[in-house]
Amino acid sequence: MTTASAPGKIILFGEHAVVYGRPALAVPVTQVHADVDIAASDRPGIWIHAPGISLRSELNSLPSDHPIAAVIHNFFFLARVSPFPPLKIHISSTIPVASGLGSGAAVTVALVRALAVHFNFPMTDEEVNAFAYEIEKIHHGTPSGIDNTVITYAKPVYFVRGQPIETFTVGQPFTLVIGDTGIPAPTKESVGDVRKLWEADKEKWEEVFDRIGRIVKEARKQIERGKWKELGGLMNDNHALLQQMTVSSPELDRLVEAARKAGALGAKLSGGGRGGNMIALVEPSDAEAVVRSLKEAGAKSTIVTKIG
Ligand code: MEV
Repeated sequence: MTTASAPGKIILFGEHAVVYGRPALAVPVTQVHADVDIAASDRPGIWIHAPGISLRSELNSLPSDHPIAAVIHNFFFLARVSPFPPLKIHISSTIPVASGLGSGAAVTVALVRALAVHFNFPMTDEEVNAFAYEIEKIHHGTPSGIDNTVITYAKPVYFVRGQPIETFTVGQPFTLVIGDTGIPAPTKESVGDVRKLWEADKEKWEEVFDRIGRIVKEARKQIERGKWKELGGLMNDNHALLQQMTVSSPELDRLVEAARKAGALGAKLSGGGRGGNMIALVEPSDAEAVVRSLKEAGAKSTIVTKIG
């Protein structure tokens, strides 16, 4: 049997503006992960079992644009696997689906890596990343590529669309609380709505994206210097700009407010928005109080994670 795993991710700063060429910072979240097992089988066909999304199916009965089927077909094409051998593929994930933690990209990365090992077809990180980006387009339409990049490399990433991967160092570890609204984040929709705003008034939104770009650069500098407390204000500023972009929601705002009231140094939505997750920067000793306050304000789940 072959196994492979990939972590979740969160965007610290710069979501949405990253689609327009501004930088963004993202980090892996190793507390949650997607895991894939592949085994040869006596039963004909390629059987996929993904209990988390209630999927138990033979490859050929899935639509060809189903993201999991697309990974397998594209891999077989790339590795020239023919005829298709009988296989059992088991996919499990502790990453909440559509929450902004990169569940789709993590399944893709774990699955293609497991296939690559099983078929003895070595792939570099760069190849895995390029492969996963093609699949992300099926999930999200016009993704920047940040999700697949941070998940493939499993390192903190300073990401600029279309540029070679740049990692960054964390001078002093810092603690984040992630709060999930429990509402699926419609990333394709929020990215599409931001595009409509931008098309209607490019000058205005380019200026907003520039401001976010400056926040991202400042945040990277402070993280590298170990001045993590400076990130709180930057997170609040970034959230305010995301609100202007209409990608927050009453539920996200409620969690952001609750975290700040409970002592977080700053908080913002993370990822596509409208649902999904928010993140709060906390002193480690305040993490528990912030978790409690997020739950009272309606968070469906929380994760406390140390960055760096
Ligand atoms: C989604 O995790 C992040 C967005 O910036 C979209 C993208 O970068 O593709 C909203």
